[in-house]
Amino acid sequence: MEGVNHSVVSEFVFLGLTNSWEIQLSLFVFSSIFYLASMMGNSLIMLTVVSDPHLHSPMYILLANLSFIDLGVSSVISPKMIYDLLRKHRVISFRGCVTQIFFIHFIGGVEMVLLIVMAFDRYVAICKPLHYLTIMSPKMCILFSVTSWAVGFIHSLFQLAFVVNLPFCGPNVLDSFYCDFPRFIKLACIDTHKLKLLVSVNSGFMSVGSFFILIISYIVIIFTVQKHSASGSSKALSTLSAHVTVVVLTFGPVMFIYTWPSSFTHLDKFLSIFDAIVTPFLNPVIYTFRNQEMKMAMMRVFNQIMGYRQIIKLFHSVHS
Ligand SMILES: *[C@@H]1O[C@H](CO)[C@@H](O)[C@H](O)[C@H]1NC(C)=O
Repeated sequence: MEGVNHSVVSEFVFLGLTNSWEIQLSLFVFSSIFYLASMMGNSLIMLTVVSDPHLHSPMYILLANLSFIDLGVSSVISPKMIYDLLRKHRVISFRGCVTQIFFIHFIGGVEMVLLIVMAFDRYVAICKPLHYLTIMSPKMCILFSVTSWAVGFIHSLFQLAFVVNLPFCGPNVLDSFYCDFPRFIKLACIDTHKLKLLVSVNSGFMSVGSFFILIISYIVIIFTVQKHSASGSSKALSTLSAHVTVVVLTFGPVMFIYTWPSSFTHLDKFLSIFDAIVTPFLNPVIYTFRNQEMKMAMMRVFNQIMGYRQIIKLFHSVHS
């Protein structure tokens, strides 16, 4: 047809995760709890680090940055997914779909660079302790922070440039609960084999590359720790094991989703749930439960908030 060379699909339909009402209901409860918990946990970490001058060292400032990113990670996919779990007809507009893809890759990219910066911070602290304050100066921290946002933004823009002009004319059903590349590209009505490869290589390279950089830096740090005397090494090892756990939990699912040859297994859907909902909640738990200093500071903030509540209650009871 003349003139109809553009997308005629204006919205996409999600098939969701399953048709079973019981599973959907339990997923709804499960996801809502994790979503709320990760919002509260990560906000509490940010609040604690910002309000406690003892925690104004690079390690904690980076941790607060990670918590900020985690608020984003859990908000890109979960709210829409949780809302959709209770609906029969799940749709997302074309624009909404592209926006979701953009933010998934933007925030994902920032998080990967931030985890590398956190590893670098530990490397300097443990392997070059005498130069720590000069290398991880406030200026450098800001530079690292800006770099991670820039890398995430460019990575996402680069990915999106390939797909933003794809024509969509045919089926608009996505066998998923959020928009992302492999399934989105497959719906375009031109041959997208090369494009799919390009996007997979880009995301795959980003995630596998970062993963290996991280693992290698942790191996170097662990060897250095073991060479030194035992004093302080157990504390360093416990911090490191927290980092490694977070890295494996974050990257494992992502690497599977982007590099596994066929994405037709349902495993990738459940891995996505894990990455979207569980990981952002685990980060604060893993980092704080192993860190005495952080735990104490959080208790102080928590008590303060509770204290204010008591005062407000008292105030109300006096005035009523
Ligand atoms: C993130 O890091 C930057 C640079 O050090 C810092 O200025 C900023 O306060 C941090 N953000 C949060 C939420 O702590």
